Amino acid sequence: MSIDESLIKFKKKEGEIILGNFTYCNPTKLYFGDQSLHNLSTELENYGSNILLVYGGGSIKKNGIYDEVINILKDSGKNIAEIPGVMPNPTIEKLREGVAIARDHKVDLILAVGGGSVCDYAKAVSVSIHCDEDPWDKYFIRFEDVSCEIVPVECVLTMVGTGSEMNGGTIITNHEQKLKIGHVFGENVNPKFSILNPNYTLTLPKTQMMAGFYDIMNHICEQYFSGADDNTSDYISEGLMKSLIHSSRIAIQDPNNYEARSNIMWTSTWALNTLVAKGKSTDWMVHMLGQAVGAYTDATHGMTLSAVSLAYYRYIMPYGLDKFVRFATNVWDVKVEGKTKEQVAAEGLNAMENWMKELGLVMNITDLGVTDEMLEGLVHSTIILPGGYKTLTPEEISTIFKESM
Ligand code: NZQ
Ligand code: ZN
Repeated sequence: MSIDESLIKFKKKEGEIILGNFTYCNPTKLYFGDQSLHNLSTELENYGSNILLVYGGGSIKKNGIYDEVINILKDSGKNIAEIPGVMPNPTIEKLREGVAIARDHKVDLILAVGGGSVCDYAKAVSVSIHCDEDPWDKYFIRFEDVSCEIVPVECVLTMVGTGSEMNGGTIITNHEQKLKIGHVFGENVNPKFSILNPNYTLTLPKTQMMAGFYDIMNHICEQYFSGADDNTSDYISEGLMKSLIHSSRIAIQDPNNYEARSNIMWTSTWALNTLVAKGKSTDWMVHMLGQAVGAYTDATHGMTLSAVSLAYYRYIMPYGLDKFVRFATNVWDVKVEGKTKEQVAAEGLNAMENWMKELGLVMNITDLGVTDEMLEGLVHSTIILPGGYKTLTPEEISTIFKESM
């Protein structure tokens, strides 16, 4: 099912959101903690012997995770093929190349060791190996479901933010078409299990760590800022946001603080494993705007979100005023006495802006390389979703991009 269909399902008519019927099933088993990699060898016993090890540009070789994993694979007697060099924002060309390698190797299991890009890529390969059609057209243009065998994926996570370790999402970039598109598959595409060791994230460059923190925040906001909902999901979201803000402030001062980094890792997984989207509508327009920026600039995902967020939220605030008031009071502890709703809501967004600046996030798209000449193309590359407080027109999208410059 496409993102649009899943949103529309909850929408009876404009402005009226019902608590939809839903199924909740998340089959990804998680192993969490500094000893979690020990579980890999036991899990490997459940799969055939041809393993495809997928990783990024080399960080796992520098920090030793590659050696740890490869030793376990060898001790387990597996035949290993490798796809190194999965880039941040993985491309369709890289996907096609990986599918060919996976087919040659008759892969039984894909082991992704890296961040969201590597994990997303592994899932995209897994649904394409036995597919007769080109994955770009089938999954990212026509948003079709998988109709072939899905090769199981496992993940050893090294970067926190995307939630890819416990969801069926995969985002692929097509530079030629200037499109970056995500397909959220069903839970049959989720990793079978993911290993979450907070220590593995300690070698992340500061900018990546901070970009990941904002990615988490925005995933929660995307699911929170939609509908006149007052359901359990929104209360869980507020708790996740408060935990993230608290722990991120500790991690800024003390990046090696294990407790803070592990709280953030856990928050990140729950921010986008479908739990807080259940029973409500969702927005996702910040991601649509950010993905268009990513398609043009190849910028770091979390920074594309931070650069467009405030212009977007300030634009839609009047259409969802009560939720923005709730956000200000319940998440940022803004006091309401003597203030209008508009003032309270604006103070909430100002508080989020101050926190984003504390993190050192990129706050405008100019700093990501966007130029005036790109604006028209950016609008064209932005997918419009109907779940937010205001379904944007192309003119409004243009206004928001201009405000973000
Ligand atoms: O490639 P290597 O050398 O491994 O370096 C990576 C990369 O340069 C580095 N890194 C990762 N772990 C490290 C590390 N460096 C040192 N130490 C470590 N432990 O960090 C850089 C970024 O990695 P990447 O995987 O690209 O980051 P992220 O996890 O933010 O993933 C971004 C991708 O995920 C998609 C994004 O669109 C983007 O393509 N998303 C996936 C989602 C999903 N599946 O649900 C949702 C998200 O909203 C997001 O859109
Ligand atoms: Zn994201």
